[in-house]
Amino acid sequence: MARAGGVIHPTYSPSAESHQRRVPVTLHLCNHPIVQDKLAYLRDQATDARHFRALVRELAVMLTYEATRTVPTTFTSVTTPLGAASVQRLGCRMGLMPVLRAGLSMMDGALELLPDAQVWHLGVYRDERKLMPVEYYNRLPAEPTVDVALILDPMLATGGSAASVADVLKRWGVPTISFVGIIGASEGLRTFERAHPDIPVFLAALDTQLNDRGYIVPGLGDAGDRQFGTS
Ligand code: PRP
Ligand code: URA
Repeated sequence: MARAGGVIHPTYSPSAESHQRRVPVTLHLCNHPIVQDKLAYLRDQATDARHFRALVRELAVMLTYEATRTVPTTFTSVTTPLGAASVQRLGCRMGLMPVLRAGLSMMDGALELLPDAQVWHLGVYRDERKLMPVEYYNRLPAEPTVDVALILDPMLATGGSAASVADVLKRWGVPTISFVGIIGASEGLRTFERAHPDIPVFLAALDTQLNDRGYIVPGLGDAGDRQFGTS
């Protein structure tokens, strides 16, 4: 995992040095070879929906692992067949917040690591003309029930959807939030960081462009459509 200011894989930056200077400090880019290999298949337009979903799930396992590196643990002990062992257990209530629709396969991966996490689905789509997020599903109870929330959405394009979900979670009262995605665009990341400088962002790649329809270029196309065969 390269933090901003660390080494960023040159594949994702034509000018790694100048690119690094513009990378927000909240960004954690995962350069792990297995992550990058799976990302290569995910980007490929020849990958069908079944394999696309599997890849999103597998990438989510690895990115969630990175995003949970600093969650609090509590110290306790267990008895092994040979005696007492000091151990650590997860010491907080974890919440997974998959953003419908494209966050659903990420949820499957994150749940493999955190089977006891609460899952709160949030529905947001982008208005295709204005490229503004529209919230359409939210069943959060009145009081927050988690200490740490992971927003799961493979794409951070203009940053509007991620920022609006983070707004919702902050209003709900979640103390600690991270965004776990797969591909971001530099422009959207700057927008997100301006709105939520306290929220770390975990990605496998940062692309430099958005096209006039707000799609990440080269990106991978429409993540929801590619997962569910609806293009
Ligand atoms: C995609 C993606 C993000 C959003 C990112 O969802 O999953 O939620 O776009 O774009 P932004 O950063 O410009 O807001 P989409 O609106 O395509 O909905 P879907 O998952 O239901 O297809
Ligand atoms: N949503 C997607 O699914 N892909 C993009 O490139 C941008 C937004």
